[in-house]
Amino acid sequence: MSLLISSKKLVAGVQAIQEPVFNQENQLVWREYIGRQIGLIKKYACSEIIDCIKAIGFSPDRIPNYNETNRKLFEISGWQMTLVKGLVPFPEYIHLLANKTFPVPTFIRKIQDLAYTPEPDICHDLFAHLILLCNQYLADFLFEMGRTAQVVSRKSVTALGRLSWFTLEFGVVGHGIETKAYGAGLISSPGEILKPSSPEARIIPFSIEEVIKTPVKSDIMQSRYFKLSSLEQLEECRKYFHYLRMK
Ligand SMILES: [Fe+2]
Repeated sequence: MSLLISSKKLVAGVQAIQEPVFNQENQLVWREYIGRQIGLIKKYACSEIIDCIKAIGFSPDRIPNYNETNRKLFEISGWQMTLVKGLVPFPEYIHLLANKTFPVPTFIRKIQDLAYTPEPDICHDLFAHLILLCNQYLADFLFEMGRTAQVVSRKSVTALGRLSWFTLEFGVVGHGIETKAYGAGLISSPGEILKPSSPEARIIPFSIEEVIKTPVKSDIMQSRYFKLSSLEQLEECRKYFHYLRMK
């Protein structure tokens, strides 16, 4: 699979991408994994996430065409993707976010690794993160976070990392006893998506003060979730990012 990005523009503002080539096993993994995941999302995720899947046009039938997806994403939220190999160094990552560009791989897990892969793959970084970027509150959150991370202290970057982890990766939303997933780490994992509605889950009302005091534990299944009353509540974070930039 090639990782070249052409400098040619498809339409104003959208970079053309050299379309990756996927083999039959890759397509089988997508069908199995994404087919199951979309079924779980319909049951356990919030309605905005389900709307975003329809808007971007992801389906279990085939791995999406990257250029078609890029054009749709740009029309929906003004974001686009760029192809990367492996993990992106942090300064480059925040530079991309501050330019409304999300790094996506072309790697997809092997059929024997359906349950888990440590490598960034398209089932998480393309499928889940692009879904989130089709919601304007989530897209704006990530853009403002990228802009902010470029100019604030290391301590504030830690706070941003915690805010990102407990929203974009493992965020939940809902009123009363209803708890629905929207974080990419939840909607891309068959195990994690079940956890917020399990009896052991600790559901805490979202508060910026609480989140930035809470360390991230990325090496275990999550059991503590911060719940927004609606995705609109993420506007509080945008105000906080502005405050950090002005400090
Ligand atoms: Fe992620």
